Amino acid sequence: MRSFKTVLFVLFAVALSACSKEEKISRDEPIKPIPVSVVVDKEKVDLGKMLFFEPRLSKSGFISCNSCHNLSTGGADNLPSSIGHKWQLGPINSPTVLNAKFNLAQFWDGRAKDLKDQAAGPIANPGEMASTHVLAIDILQSIPEYVQLFKNVYNVDEITIEEVTDAIAAFEETLTTPNSRFDQWLRGDENAITAKEKEGYALFKEKGCVACHNGAGVGGESYQKFGVVKTYENDTETLGRFNVTQNEEDKYFFKVPLLRNIELTAPYFHDASTWNLEEAVKIMAEYQVGLEVSKEEQGKIVSFLKTLTGEQPAIQYPILPPSSSTTPPPDRS
Ligand code: HEC
Ligand code: HEC
Repeated sequence: MRSFKTVLFVLFAVALSACSKEEKISRDEPIKPIPVSVVVDKEKVDLGKMLFFEPRLSKSGFISCNSCHNLSTGGADNLPSSIGHKWQLGPINSPTVLNAKFNLAQFWDGRAKDLKDQAAGPIANPGEMASTHVLAIDILQSIPEYVQLFKNVYNVDEITIEEVTDAIAAFEETLTTPNSRFDQWLRGDENAITAKEKEGYALFKEKGCVACHNGAGVGGESYQKFGVVKTYENDTETLGRFNVTQNEEDKYFFKVPLLRNIELTAPYFHDASTWNLEEAVKIMAEYQVGLEVSKEEQGKIVSFLKTLTGEQPAIQYPILPPSSSTTPPPDRS
């Protein structure tokens, strides 16, 4: 066991030094390439993957994390707002889990400090998976294969929500999308993006989009008001960051969304007000920077945004262990 961990550590160290070498040769731009992700604890990540796909973490036995963060469709559900327990419509558009590790905090309003903290939410949210942490743990504890896996990874006999959320978060840490064409260009491959896409990137900087959408995630590093130069009237009920801080100045502030893989995750904005990426760019220009963008400029910016689509995580569908005779049955009420 010890030597296994040592090997993992060495792999990690080698990969880290490889990454930092890679970062050194990348261009000096406000957007940074996504580091090539490394699995540090494969057993934990595999367990987290099972839990991410585990519908028995929901009351109905039907909804998993993947229901709303579908890894076949960019880590989101491509719906205006998510569908939860008993077909309840959620209040807000589901953000992607891809690259979520680059967010300064989780949720539109940043109410969860990290991925582990976040993962406890949906299981017990009555409008989402509608279970309780007690029930979810009872279910896992009744399945001998899970008990063994938790023992292997955490050396515990009694599973708690701590290990469940820790494993899910470890899996989510691996859900990055490196090597997009834009990242190839950042790393020095001049021909990785076209002239039109380069013009789009130049406009993205010129129009001030990079002030908020920057870093490895092309967003996720700050809270900003939706409606900086003009009041956004389409949705005045969702108060964003205000819900967390209760500061009047934080009304309508949201975590800046990541623009990585943006072409895969329509509809756009927390209220899903548009399905169209050109339109989203136009709205941003109008409300965030107070500029008009021509149709041609919208097209160029969108062509740049599409170069941010990276390699999607290669997911092999996990096979989940069967329930036992003592597993609490699904409850659709
Ligand atoms: C019923 C649909 C649904 C299910 C099931 C669900 N989520 Fe979500 N998820 C959402 C919605 C909607 C949000 C945004 C909520 C908000 O910001 O208020 C969200 C937010 C997130 C975020 C934050 C991303 C960001 O950019 O801020 C992460 C990470 C995440 N979910 C992971 C999970 C995990 C892990 C599970 C399973 C334990 C899960 N979700 C289950 C709908 C769902
Ligand atoms: C002052 C900060 C700021 C600036 C400048 C800015 N954005 Fe945004 N952007 C945001 C915030 C905040 C959101 C989330 C708004 C919401 O849905 O509540 C957002 C959302 C988006 C979305 C939708 C993302 C999604 O997943 O739904 C796109 C696309 C986008 N911005 C592109 C741009 C472009 C293009 C520009 C330049 C014309 C730009 N942004 C300028 C802060 C900014």
